[in-house]
Amino acid sequence: MPDTTSWAPRHHVIVAGGAGFIGSAFARNYLRWHPDAGVTVLDKLTYAGNTDNLSQVWDDPRFCFVQADICDYDAVAPHIAGADAVVNFAAETHVDRSILDPDVFVRTNVLGMNTLLRAAKDGWVTSGAANARKAGGYEGKRFLHVSTDEVYGHVGEGATAEDAPLKPRNPYSASKAGAELIAFSYFTNFGLPVLVTRGENTIGPYQYPEKATPLFITNAIEDKPLPIYGQGKAVRHYVYVDDHAAAIDLVLHEGTPGEAYNIGADEEVNTVELARAIVGLLGKPESLMQLVPDRPGHDYRYNLDFSKVLRLGWKPEYNFERTIAATVDWYARNEPWWRKIKAGDYKDYYQRQYGARLASVR
Ligand code: NAD
Ligand code: DAU
Repeated sequence: MPDTTSWAPRHHVIVAGGAGFIGSAFARNYLRWHPDAGVTVLDKLTYAGNTDNLSQVWDDPRFCFVQADICDYDAVAPHIAGADAVVNFAAETHVDRSILDPDVFVRTNVLGMNTLLRAAKDGWVTSGAANARKAGGYEGKRFLHVSTDEVYGHVGEGATAEDAPLKPRNPYSASKAGAELIAFSYFTNFGLPVLVTRGENTIGPYQYPEKATPLFITNAIEDKPLPIYGQGKAVRHYVYVDDHAAAIDLVLHEGTPGEAYNIGADEEVNTVELARAIVGLLGKPESLMQLVPDRPGHDYRYNLDFSKVLRLGWKPEYNFERTIAATVDWYARNEPWWRKIKAGDYKDYYQRQYGARLASVR
């Protein structure tokens, strides 16, 4: 359990996008880690949002859920004005969907981000909590934006620290980089205490089965092919979702406003190795692994220098072996959760993304 209680023990946090994968883990953990805190999840409930992810905290008197679009100022502003912090997870998050339909990524990830920031700037000043710039900041307030390692773009060699240039290469990562730059502009121009985290690939319970890991696990359980893009040599680093949530919690409480913090893992894992680990854990044949035509603009490698968040005190508990084992185990034990998703609109997306790809290699 993180020891991060130094900032305002009795506080209320808005978790935007808290019905999704990482946001719901953050909300569930936050109430455990901070018994005196309150949490309001603001979420539009897009295809990726799911109130089942919040069932463990739904009846907790410290928890509240509001269905709202982060692009709708009037819907979000009153909630933000009454809170002490915003942690923004709300986003369109899947790279493949951003290549199919970029517009909604720009709307949610850039305009939605600006809407939340503007609501915090306006609401926190008028609430009297901050005589903002005069007082040297919005005292007692914090706005943390959850970003991604993808903003650095493909990293051929070495590792990117927080001061590396942002070179995003797909519509998702470009929109996330835009969101960050707008967030930092609110720090520079209005003194809003903005913090940014940039996380690597995160896996664990309740991840929508479009991302490689839950897609591979659920397909393997169903004895369906695991579609591996290109030659399967692209590498990622996998962070367990509760470790990611703990790092965000630490940065929220102990980080320095105006700064970014990388959140990563040590072990480099390529897609073939990921798929092999999954079929191995499930006792399925490697013949389910299927090379398919590549993702356009595929970033073949990210690699973060995350020493800054380690210096802040982050202690991840999961290495890759434990991360993938815990993740496979959760999907194996929670079939109703993902089967309900896969039986819905997901089927149309799957056909659009994989129909021709899989047909081309049969
Ligand atoms: P997710 O797709 O599982 O969840 C996104 C949530 O945002 C959903 O609940 C959805 O309903 C909500 N949402 C989308 N548009 C909205 C809108 N207009 N208004 C309100 N809510 C809206 O995403 P995730 O994987 O949990 O990622 C959460 C955040 O973390 C994102 O900002 C993502 O960029 C970032 N991130 C993800 C990873 C990863 O590997 N999953 C790694 C690093 C950073
Ligand atoms: O790096 C952090 C990012 O990780 C987050 O910001 C994104 O929200 C999240 O979606 C994730 O992006 P990736 O593109 O890295 O994740 P994805 O699971 O889609 O792909 C992981 C790797 O697996 C990547 O090299 C592409 C490959 N892949 C993916 C899918 C979906 C396949 O080979 N086949 C697939 O079907």
